[in-house]
Amino acid sequence: MAKARASYICKSCGTHHQQWSGQCNACGEWNSIVEQRMPVATRSDAGVASVPLARVEDHAGNRRSTGLAEFDRVLGGGLVEGGLVLIGGDPGIGKSTLVMRAAAALGTAKRPVLYIAAEESPQQIRMRARRMGLEASDVHIYPDTEIGGALAEAQRINAGLVVADSIQTVRVEGLAAAPGSVSQVREATLQIMQFAKTAQTPVVLVGHVTKEGTVAGPRTLEHIVDTVLYLEGDDFHAQRLLRSVKNRFGPTFEVAVFEMSGDGLHEVPNPSALFLAERDARAPGSSVAVPLEGTRPLVVEIQALVAPTAYALPKRLATGFDLNRLHMLLAVLSRQADVQLGNHDVYVNVVGGLRLREPAVDLAVAIAIASSERDVATGPQVAAIGEIGLSGELRSVPSAAQRVREAQRLGFERCFVPATSARNGASDGVGAANLAEALELALT
Ligand code: TYD
Ligand code: MG
Repeated sequence: MAKARASYICKSCGTHHQQWSGQCNACGEWNSIVEQRMPVATRSDAGVASVPLARVEDHAGNRRSTGLAEFDRVLGGGLVEGGLVLIGGDPGIGKSTLVMRAAAALGTAKRPVLYIAAEESPQQIRMRARRMGLEASDVHIYPDTEIGGALAEAQRINAGLVVADSIQTVRVEGLAAAPGSVSQVREATLQIMQFAKTAQTPVVLVGHVTKEGTVAGPRTLEHIVDTVLYLEGDDFHAQRLLRSVKNRFGPTFEVAVFEMSGDGLHEVPNPSALFLAERDARAPGSSVAVPLEGTRPLVVEIQALVAPTAYALPKRLATGFDLNRLHMLLAVLSRQADVQLGNHDVYVNVVGGLRLREPAVDLAVAIAIASSERDVATGPQVAAIGEIGLSGELRSVPSAAQRVREAQRLGFERCFVPATSARNGASDGVGAANLAEALELALT
């Protein structure tokens, strides 16, 4: 069905050319154009018939569960037939571990999973699976990096899912550029895409986030694939966040929380409880924020420590919170709420390794700082939601009611919100007009 046709491609920039020439007119490189043989489908006649919109086959309804409810939720209800999913993240964060869990759940004797072991040896993958108790699953390991052969094998075994781990280590036959280069990674992804759409098989690509430019990072593929997920976390905490940043088949900015343990990644169905587990509510300097991760509110502890400085310039340090935002909050605290910190070091920490980017956590951060400065605890039932403006006013935030509900579900009965949110009935939190008033309410 397929015959080979000669085409020409530039080794350095990946541009396709009709014919060979000495210099690539796209990147200016000399002697970089090479011939490559690409299989092309032969067609008997000139065109392909068009189909009325309503009669286009709709596969998006056929979702396949990954066996992890949280993973499914981030995907928008499971993997879609023919959908191409990219999972990006730092090396060692747990991408292969997560994908192995899903592969083991999806593979059946009739439709096994084809796992392209382009990076690790089959032995290493087996060891990981053994550690996770998944050795006996219907996952076939493909021990080579060439993508054409791998896709042919996927067809041969009637694979129900194909995993390419990682996309930066697979290679395309006949393409002279180094594995991991932009042209290799893009060409391989395009071939995989073609396969996914024709065979109506879901494919998961694993991609490392890279700091240096020699290896193409997941960003170069974001526009090609259907869904882009990032697995985040740090070396010091077991929590991992799976975040969707693009999804043609579901919601974006949805977040799932997992925990890395001795036998693989496990879902955390109630992450708020996890982030609050070690909180001592009687300790000054602790408060509770309710950031929105995706569409879901999380309840998170914020800690602050205020201590007399030993330096001419007091130190400010923020972990999980923007340092510039902290400087702004300190200025507002001093001008609008008479919390003077000019001779004090200030440390702020978001517990559990989360990175909060939302202004809606301002009030909780400010309360934690004031609580430490005054040496007064907020009490066990206080949570705080609200953005702080430069004149100390509390500004309303999206989904206030939803956040209050989540806080109350976890026992935070006194949930401070901007007066505007409380007034228009958007939530049954305790309204405060400005920072000074909120501190008065929270710290007495
Ligand atoms: P891995 O999935 O190989 O990361 P990636 O594919 O993103 O590079 O996971 C690597 C780390 O996870 C490694 O440091 C070991 C740790 N790990 C566990 O803690 N428990 C486990 O059950 C597994 C399989 C790995
Ligand atoms: Mg890996």
